Amino acid sequence: MVETSSPVTQPHSTLDEFLIAERDRFRELPGLDDVLRAVAGAAERINHLVRRASLAGVLGATGEINVQGEVVQQLDNLGTELFVEALRRSGRIAALACEELGDVLLIEGAEDAPFFAVFDPIDGSSNIDVAVPIGSIFGFYARSGKVSPESLLRPGSEQVAAAYIVYGSCTMLVLATKESVDGFTLDETIGEFVLSHPGITLPAGCPYYSVNEAYQDRWDAGMQRAIAELRSRCSLRYVGSLVSDFHRTLLKGGIFAYPADKKQPQGKLRLLYEASPLAFIIEQAGGAASSGRERILAMTPDAIHQRTPLIIGDSEAVAMVEQCVAQD
Ligand code: AHG
Ligand code: MN
Ligand code: MN
Repeated sequence: MVETSSPVTQPHSTLDEFLIAERDRFRELPGLDDVLRAVAGAAERINHLVRRASLAGVLGATGEINVQGEVVQQLDNLGTELFVEALRRSGRIAALACEELGDVLLIEGAEDAPFFAVFDPIDGSSNIDVAVPIGSIFGFYARSGKVSPESLLRPGSEQVAAAYIVYGSCTMLVLATKESVDGFTLDETIGEFVLSHPGITLPAGCPYYSVNEAYQDRWDAGMQRAIAELRSRCSLRYVGSLVSDFHRTLLKGGIFAYPADKKQPQGKLRLLYEASPLAFIIEQAGGAASSGRERILAMTPDAIHQRTPLIIGDSEAVAMVEQCVAQD
């Protein structure tokens, strides 16, 4: 009789064991578990690259400028290649939209596959060379009808799951479905993501606000009033990597804001593969996500790289920001 309390048995299940144990929730979404296994596998490869980036010679820019008009880092390209290949091999993705690809990629021979994926392969690229946490962000939609590039222009409320990976002091994968938000920590000794944060819910209160205060003078009067209110009662934390700032907000509570400003009238962050997946996660965890004027999950992108202001976290704090903006 195997002792279940013996130190040999893992006290936490692996992602694979979780997907098997939660088979009922994936029964309506056959194949999504394969997509998540594919993403986790690619994330382990990226984690390995991130941990030894300077030694592996993958630091620094490529010299290219992407469709966003941003300098492309080597890891941006490597992350894109690894995730695209993993999603292709899963056989469950019909089409994908990626921050580093100008257009929707229709996966050849997979027109009937059950899902679409939208993703930011490496978020926080400006931080790669200085050992500051970076991340990857994913949203997943069930395919309906014939695949076309327009198929991916869907409101975030139609996502069936969302996830992010944060490559920080530890590497974590956080997964949200309509049932729950669960966090998995990469155990490098066994090369598996292990369930470490089951059933994540957003803590009440607003201990932290997270915004780039350098842009203060560029915000509208309403946003300036809202941030002044947060400044009066919260502590400031701003990493400059969205996934990192979001992960702290999800686990500790608070609010993150990347408002529109005079230089970036639509904001900087992208609706489809940054704001919508994180909005899905925060709402599932009990929080809120807004552009300042409307619920992020209700917004349908006109284009895959469309930008949006993002105010996300504690519901009361988000509502306060919306009220200030509305008084503008
Ligand atoms: P990405 O590296 O995918 O382009 O995203 C960078 C984003 C986001 O991670 C972060 O919140 C924001 O850029 C920081 O922008 P500022 O430097 O303007 O504050
Ligand atoms: Mn990003
Ligand atoms: Mn990116």
